[in-house]
Amino acid sequence: MEHVIGGKRIVLGLSGGIACYKVCDLASRLVRLGARVRVVMTGNATRFVGAVTLRALTGEPVYTDTFGAEEPGGIDHVRLAEFAELLVIAPATANILAKMAHGIADDLLSTTCLSCPAPVLIAPAMEARMWRHPATRANIELLQGRGVHLVPPTAGRLASGASGEGRLPDREVLVSHIAALLGGGSLLEGKTVLVTAGPTRERIDPVRFISNPSSGRMGFALAAAAARQGARKVYLVSGPVALPTPPDVERIDIGGAGQMLQEVQALAGRADLVFAAAAVGDYAPREASRHKIKKDNSEELILKLQRTPDVLAWLSSNRKKGAVVVGFAVETEREEEHARAKLERKGLDLVVLNNPTQPGAGFEVETNRVTVLGPDGFKRELALMSKDELADRLLELVIETQK
Ligand code: CTP
Repeated sequence: MEHVIGGKRIVLGLSGGIACYKVCDLASRLVRLGARVRVVMTGNATRFVGAVTLRALTGEPVYTDTFGAEEPGGIDHVRLAEFAELLVIAPATANILAKMAHGIADDLLSTTCLSCPAPVLIAPAMEARMWRHPATRANIELLQGRGVHLVPPTAGRLASGASGEGRLPDREVLVSHIAALLGGGSLLEGKTVLVTAGPTRERIDPVRFISNPSSGRMGFALAAAAARQGARKVYLVSGPVALPTPPDVERIDIGGAGQMLQEVQALAGRADLVFAAAAVGDYAPREASRHKIKKDNSEELILKLQRTPDVLAWLSSNRKKGAVVVGFAVETEREEEHARAKLERKGLDLVVLNNPTQPGAGFEVETNRVTVLGPDGFKRELALMSKDELADRLLELVIETQK
């Protein structure tokens, strides 16, 4: 399934601010989602990042000079205006906002703004005082009054070291605004996502349990990414972890595998997309002792364990019609073979294979390196990246591979 941004033509205008470095990543992401991106940079923007960087990331010419004529025989601002299905100004400085508001056209970017008939999205980023200044407020109002779309800056630490409103929002926030303008909504729009995360605790007695070192980070990152990317509802069914609940996510805390199953049974009928990232204990004490087990004189204690329910297998065979189910596999030998067996046995759409013995991968770290496997020999090896980044990539892959 193609992303709504796929095949779309975007002109991305950079004005001079430190957030230019983040916009390189945005440009790269838009290209990965299938867009054609042509970049226009003001002279000041080129002091923050190089045109070469953006040319390499977009594979398209980068325009920096009104009289540079990147296109043979063309007048660049006219060609750019014709090319654009959407004009995105990010970062938008107070200066470019002022020029746009007052129709000043004294460089290629401001000239393109004036001559472009496509919808315009601005993502301002600047010092908090400049953002709050009545001149900037009035310019924003003027622009919004003319139908210019705004992604407001977020609060946080600014380049000056001070804190305040003025930061460029996260890349995925920008992508979802762009997607909304280009395609009438993100692909997750209207979708309900169910994520299982963290370890389970299988009770031995009131003060002891069997568990594992899963941090929950991968599942939490997936839930956060789904919410950020515009899912209508995100449920996160999690074992005990020390992580804050991501914004716009409904978290349901569970203890053992049995309880996790009960909770997902109540939600499965609604889920369009399921990620089973929990490290569910495979065995639990047959019976949890009602009282603390006291040691006695014997040198050993025998616990009788029994299999726990397979939450993912249940979800897979009781899924809502058309729902996509993604599982995780942790393997340390004959990885692909074992993961493919899981894919088939549990009837999954994709399985994300981890090898925790590899550097940077596994349970308690912030990064991960995985291989994603699907039916018909589908295989995609992803580079080492943060779990947040990986969550975005996995959502992308689901969109790319599912009908
Ligand atoms: N899973 C689950 N419920 C279980 C066990 C696993 O939902 N009781 C899910 C996990 O969240 C993960 C996938 O199934 O998505 C892992 O599959 P599993 O076959 O249990 O893998 P391992 O625990 O690694 O098992 P094995 O002993 O087969 O290697």
